Amino acid sequence: MKRIPLSIPHMGGREPIYVEQAFATNWLSTVGPNLTSFEEEFKNRLGVPAVALASGTAAIHLGLRLLGVGPGDEVFCPTLTFAASCNPVRYLGAEPVFLDSDQATWNLDPNILEDAFRERARHNRLPRALIVVHLYGQCADMDPILWLCRSYDVPVLEDAAEALGATYQERPAGTLGDIAAFSFNGNKIITTTGGGILASRNATWVEKARFWSQQSRDPGLAYEHSELGYNYRMSNVLAGIGRGQLEVLDQRVEQRRAIAFRYGDGFADLPGITLMPQAPYGLHTNWLSCFRIDADGFGCSRDSLIQALDEANVESRPVWKPMHLQPYYAGCERRGGEVAEDLFRRGICLPSSSSLSRQDQLHVVNRVRAAAGASPLAELTLEPLAAA
Ligand SMILES: Cc1ncc(COP(=O)(O)O)c(C=O)c1O
Repeated sequence: MKRIPLSIPHMGGREPIYVEQAFATNWLSTVGPNLTSFEEEFKNRLGVPAVALASGTAAIHLGLRLLGVGPGDEVFCPTLTFAASCNPVRYLGAEPVFLDSDQATWNLDPNILEDAFRERARHNRLPRALIVVHLYGQCADMDPILWLCRSYDVPVLEDAAEALGATYQERPAGTLGDIAAFSFNGNKIITTTGGGILASRNATWVEKARFWSQQSRDPGLAYEHSELGYNYRMSNVLAGIGRGQLEVLDQRVEQRRAIAFRYGDGFADLPGITLMPQAPYGLHTNWLSCFRIDADGFGCSRDSLIQALDEANVESRPVWKPMHLQPYYAGCERRGGEVAEDLFRRGICLPSSSSLSRQDQLHVVNRVRAAAGASPLAELTLEPLAAA
């Protein structure tokens, strides 16, 4: 039996048309009409200007530089995330301070943030910026977070790598803070094989990021540089893939949500397995379908479940390993971390590709059920109610 992967690319069908145009016109570098159109189409969707880059990590790097992060600074960041959220802090010679998650959202806990700000303000040592991550397709609770950041005058970079298509109070993820980073890595809800976008209401910042992403080449014929630059621009070929993918983003959101809720229905009679909370304040894309396993009720541990799935040719993964547990970040300051540790120990990400067939999903559901000692289902809910 073929292996069922965690999250794979899912083309809409029109991508090759745009890629072919790039070949036909020989726009095969980091300039060209696909790039211009992709940025324009992204801007139309989000409502803020954007620059297409080589990765989401590059977008975070440039975003932090725009916020003035440099040597000696501290940057607050949730501990429960992927390392790419905070690695750019170190690229810039600054230090991350890791903050715990809220059980209710799995995202940054506003109460922990408030405590951390209060303590730092007492020592006159406020961070240069906050990175807020929208995990697995769900926005963090941005109203209290933004209110606190405004009160303490700390700018916010949204790491929306996993949350394209999500909303908070009907506003799109990536338009809530000062700057946002998106990723089009191959496992994301839409992909350019690899790539990212930096978006911001501040058009001057977006232009500055564009300048830095092209080695900060000053205007004129001579190769003159008065600032440090990077080779971070997206290619016009990949932007063609992005154009086709953007056209099907809404479908992909619906498909990923339906997968998560179908799993939810498939496990409804099992104790000890709970879908990641769906906060009432917005639309959770469920980029990955994540569940928390309570071994006592479920009848098997999270790790045994991963192993049982692996033996049945199903790829699953633990929830992100918190940054404060990473050897590279040992010694960094943190506030709390127990919630993130618990989610890491008990959380599992199940196959979530938007192309996952109903038959394959039934296989996953029944292997999870078997691991819990429950009888298999004959079929899955066609249209899970909760997704409507
Ligand atoms: C939370 C988070 N931030 C940043 C990134 C980095 O994006 P990229 O792989 O495009 O550099 C990713 C995904 O890879 C991510 O999941």
